[in-house]
Amino acid sequence: MALDSNEWYCNNTYLFLEVINVTFNPALCRNESEVESKLIVQYLLPALGYTPDTWHQEVAVGSIRLDFLAFAAQVIPFVLDANSPLSVVMEAKHPQQNLDNHVLRLRYYLTKLNVKYGLLTNGREIRIYTLNGNDICLVFSCLGKEIEEHISQIQALIGRDSLNKNSSKRFENQDLNDNQGEQKMKIISVYHNKGGVGKTTTVVNLAAALSKKGKKVLVIDLDSQANTTFATGLIKFDDEENDDIKDLNILQVLQSEEFYSISEVARKSSFCQPAIYVVPAHIDLMKNESDLNSLDYSRLILIEKLADVKNDFDVVLIDTPPSLNLYARIALIAADYLIIPSDLKPFANQGLLNVKEFIKTVNGFKKQIKQPPLEILGVLPCKIPTNPKFIQYTLYPRIQKVSQKYDLPIFDTVIYERDDLAKCSEQTIQMGDMEIADPVSVLDFKPNSTSAQEFELLAKEVLSKIGML
Ligand SMILES: Nc1ncnc2c1ncn2[C@@H]1O[C@H](COP(=O)(O)OP(=O)(O)OP(=O)(O)O)[C@@H](O)[C@H]1O
Ligand SMILES: [Mg+2]
Repeated sequence: MALDSNEWYCNNTYLFLEVINVTFNPALCRNESEVESKLIVQYLLPALGYTPDTWHQEVAVGSIRLDFLAFAAQVIPFVLDANSPLSVVMEAKHPQQNLDNHVLRLRYYLTKLNVKYGLLTNGREIRIYTLNGNDICLVFSCLGKEIEEHISQIQALIGRDSLNKNSSKRFENQDLNDNQGEQKMKIISVYHNKGGVGKTTTVVNLAAALSKKGKKVLVIDLDSQANTTFATGLIKFDDEENDDIKDLNILQVLQSEEFYSISEVARKSSFCQPAIYVVPAHIDLMKNESDLNSLDYSRLILIEKLADVKNDFDVVLIDTPPSLNLYARIALIAADYLIIPSDLKPFANQGLLNVKEFIKTVNGFKKQIKQPPLEILGVLPCKIPTNPKFIQYTLYPRIQKVSQKYDLPIFDTVIYERDDLAKCSEQTIQMGDMEIADPVSVLDFKPNSTSAQEFELLAKEVLSKIGML
């Protein structure tokens, strides 16, 4: 959740405080305010590497009010969502207070805000809890008077450097194979300049099928329509006031050379199991296209940022807009492989000429930057009618045309038109009196359906074509 000025305020009363004491004496803490100033501000935060610009006091997030929130890696505006494990909540209590009475509240804060670590102290005792699903567990405790003996343990858990180091491993909870850098991460763009041919449907369900085969999958939505972002369940708001994607999506990744890494922007999506990661898109991509176009690095930045996560993922799938625009170009430049979904109808077929021309210019650019050309995995027949007569008399000639007339490879797998595919992305859940979108992949919606089997076949064929089977 991105915090706007109404939801969020901080009061860095100690911002300019010179840190004189580097030791801590719990006997000097006689009330809650002294626990805050003497233990947390003067001793703990500096000892853990948090400079005054990286922590905030009295942070209000909706109905939650935190004593302290320290960020290992965050940018403005502050975001508390899938990326908030890179922050620590610190709660100070009066020395007479029993910490046991405050654990439930800390649990509420950590689970609600998805912050991985919480420190709870009354000065006499220090405890660190970690988020574990919908619960928290105690991972460290010591007496206040022993804190200096244990400071390296505390640093290892919640020190700024440790959290940052671990952030490069933030995708590890995907609970999948360890990539170990043996096999290169493969980047596949899914593109056709014709709209509505099944690009997004292919990206999200292929991602799910690959994930079920044990691959670590990252999906990038580069289409301002944000259909992939929706289909992977990342759009939970029904009012633009609550839009938590606006300030943290693929646009920021492309706009900034230094900030907004993939690991910062990608969100975990449980629209399929095992979960995958998704870099969301936003409608703002549209209005920023020409500005972005004028940036020298706009065509290269995605390549660079993807290189930073090369050990975190096996396969990256990029969804593209139905256009020959900058975003489609960026997607193809960054990719090793291309899948071209097509309903094989006459317009889609004629569009293949544009696609081929586009690939040619992209490959020209790739040559200049010393990257190998795009490998076309094939045209993927999508949304194909199941009518037996159509299959018998029309489908085969259309398939033949792709290779004979347009000289493009074609997938053996065919994705037929099936109700389940449309239905699975329209799933909702009831929350109070609100109906919230809760899309799932077709493989999770109906694992035994023909449609699910088609995507399993597609995953197999793709893996075999990219040498990962
Ligand atoms: N095989 C299929 N069976 C049934 N419905 C499908 C199938 N494939 C796609 N659809 C439906 O067709 C519509 C368009 O599909 P999709 O969004 O995947 O196309 P797209 O190429 O990504 O479109 P755009 O170019 O607008 O991004 C969606 O409503 C989707 O649910
Ligand atoms: Mg689409």
